Amino acid sequence: MNGLVNRHILLGVTGGIAAYKAAELVRLLRRAGAEVRVVMTRGATEFVTPLTFQALSGHAVRSELFDAVAEAGMDHIELARWAELVLVAPASADFLARLAVGRADDLLATLCLASAAPIALAPAMNQQMWQAPATQENVRRLTARGIRLFGPGCGEQACGEVGPGRMLEPAELARLAGELFASGPLSGVRALVTAGPTREAIDPVRFIGNRSSGKMGFAVAAALAAAGAEVVLVAGPVALPTPPGVRRVDVESAAEMLAAVEQEQFELLVAAAAVADYRPATAEHAKIKKERAAIALELTRNPDILATISAARPAVFTVGFAAETDELERYARGKLAQKGLDMIAANWVGAGRGFEAESNALQVFWADGGTSLDEAPKSDLARQLVALVAGRYAASGKKSKG
Ligand code: C5P
Repeated sequence: MNGLVNRHILLGVTGGIAAYKAAELVRLLRRAGAEVRVVMTRGATEFVTPLTFQALSGHAVRSELFDAVAEAGMDHIELARWAELVLVAPASADFLARLAVGRADDLLATLCLASAAPIALAPAMNQQMWQAPATQENVRRLTARGIRLFGPGCGEQACGEVGPGRMLEPAELARLAGELFASGPLSGVRALVTAGPTREAIDPVRFIGNRSSGKMGFAVAAALAAAGAEVVLVAGPVALPTPPGVRRVDVESAAEMLAAVEQEQFELLVAAAAVADYRPATAEHAKIKKERAAIALELTRNPDILATISAARPAVFTVGFAAETDELERYARGKLAQKGLDMIAANWVGAGRGFEAESNALQVFWADGGTSLDEAPKSDLARQLVALVAGRYAASGKKSKG
């Protein structure tokens, strides 16, 4: 269900006894990483209170079209634009009829007209109502318009009858919703991202570190997951939440980071970590005392994680980062060649640029080309970078060789 990560799902709940199952559906969609906003018809509120859905979705629930207070926040047009999928579960016979004729007589029906997002319906009704010629005609009209039907299932109904008309189970609906998005450009690809700084111990209380915040790497991990990849994020010490749908492995030193990366299997490696180039030759077991006027710290080279993987696993598509203070393209292209990379994303650092900033700009290079990504928030930049990576990866011939 990775296709649901960061997806915006507008869940419409209409009046039917299956409305109580939509509560579980909200939980499952959110657990899979989706953001859910719930709109209820008036009928639905007779079965379940809006408060239930508010608590589960984390957002106020809307049911009225002419609600001045709610419209002052995210109005219905914004809500329609926000949605990447409109999922109506349960969808009553009346709702199918209203949708079939294009009514806009309540908020949910209006949103279905106003949204460009795909619409999926999970019908739930008495079997006689489902099989009624009027309902079947409505269903034909709706599916002819490209509206998807999830179910209904067949079986025992709340009314005691047996037949078609049962709403599919929430887990099945969440799976089907995930499938709609699973056609992301990196779906089925295992990706590993390194992010953040490393800490190289001097003694039990001191270390050599750097100013990397991990923001860019975390944003790349989130964007990869949103593009359908199965993502492992190997993170140095940072104060950032794990992006939804991403598996995180925390490490401290470069040696630990390399060991963690070597344990994983992946087709795509994005090395965004600011790995310390050197570590103290020996980490003291006891705290160093300030007895001498001066002490010397002998440093030894750390392994290059990216170069190690690129040499040992030539089938892996590798993307490096290069933070430079001068001669950006020359140094970045040098690293691309030396480390045997498929792509490198370079940015200027120093004086408020790069590491701790919220936004960034990137120049991306590959062997026979390159492009610039203009200054943007790191999350936007990460999405653009991942789109580029997906394109180069697809064209690389490394695809699916693992
Ligand atoms: O050589 P430089 O440190 O500038 O290269 C930066 C790139 O190499 C980044 O992608 C970084 O994550 C990666 N790197 C690494 N292991 C190191 C040093 C850098 O993976 N020890």
